[in-house]
Amino acid sequence: MWKGLIEEYKQYLPVTENTPALTLNEGNTPLVHLVNLSKELGIELYGKIEGANPTGSFKDRGMVFAVAKAIEDGAQCVICASTGNTSAAAAAYATRAGIQSIVVIPKGKVALGKLAQATMYGAKIIEIDGNFDDALNIVRRISETTPVALVNSVNPYRIEGQKTASFEIVDSLGKAPDFLCIPVGNAGNISAYWKGFKDYNEAKQSGLPKMFGFEAEGAAAIVKGEPIANPETVATAIRIGNPASWKLAEAARDESGGIIDSVTDEEILAAYKLIAGKEGVFVEPGSAASLAGVIKSVKAGLIPQGSQVVTVFTGNGLKDPDTAMGVSTVDLVSLKNDEEEIRKYIEGVL
Ligand code: F0G
Repeated sequence: MWKGLIEEYKQYLPVTENTPALTLNEGNTPLVHLVNLSKELGIELYGKIEGANPTGSFKDRGMVFAVAKAIEDGAQCVICASTGNTSAAAAAYATRAGIQSIVVIPKGKVALGKLAQATMYGAKIIEIDGNFDDALNIVRRISETTPVALVNSVNPYRIEGQKTASFEIVDSLGKAPDFLCIPVGNAGNISAYWKGFKDYNEAKQSGLPKMFGFEAEGAAAIVKGEPIANPETVATAIRIGNPASWKLAEAARDESGGIIDSVTDEEILAAYKLIAGKEGVFVEPGSAASLAGVIKSVKAGLIPQGSQVVTVFTGNGLKDPDTAMGVSTVDLVSLKNDEEEIRKYIEGVL
């Protein structure tokens, strides 16, 4: 039985005898060969389905370890700023460990499912008239003077936990892929994956991918080379104007010979529909930024034909039902509660 990240990967993590055995059996997510899109794009494309984690996003990998280490250090309460997924994961793991969580979120900009999760897991939820960057600045300062443990990805244990996704990819493929494509928001995850590939390569000579990160165009601070005061994108998960791990993300790009590029909301929504409609994989809009980036990069010749590519689907589509229904073109067919009428309709469709 899969025992969760801390137990499975303790030799690669700063685990001590005092680290609690916290887990919701996170990790071990599917790497799905995207056969239809592979054919269309002329590459060997895989999706790492991080929405299959216990709270439906990759944040569980970092959060299980950040919360465990916070408890090891005696914390009674964790705090984070969030566009939604971090708050869901923080609340779940804090509750599981029997401590309090406080989350600070941008009012009106968190997808419905994520808010429902934080509520159900019992977080204290503070919403502000401000964006994620404002919220992160506030919780960083408060955690310096108040006995609350900060569990945003500026906490190095978050990066340690999240790097385990790279181990799983290498174990599934037998080596690192040629390209690793990933959405970029606060830039913690791209930094974590790169660290994971490097750590595993050192231990197992498993090779290194080129790291391709994708920001949403309205929130593309790294691409533009300056912070964005009022970031905007349909992909609320990555609506971030001043990524905390900016330098680490640039290092991942430069050391690997990769790129950080941007994709438009139009490209994100097209990829969002494509991955559900062509492969049966439902991801949230922020996650679709990576597939949008794959498509853009293949078209531009930056990802050559025949390449082995892994695209990270960071969060589950169920988290954001409003966006799904908003882009849906399928009309519901309303019929009488009558077998004959339904039969006639079906025969008309076939
Ligand atoms: N994809 C999803 C679904 C996310 O929720 C996030 C970040 C990212 C990608 C980007 O990852 O920040 O490490 O570059 N969500 C954070 C949150 C900010 O609060 O849930 P990153």
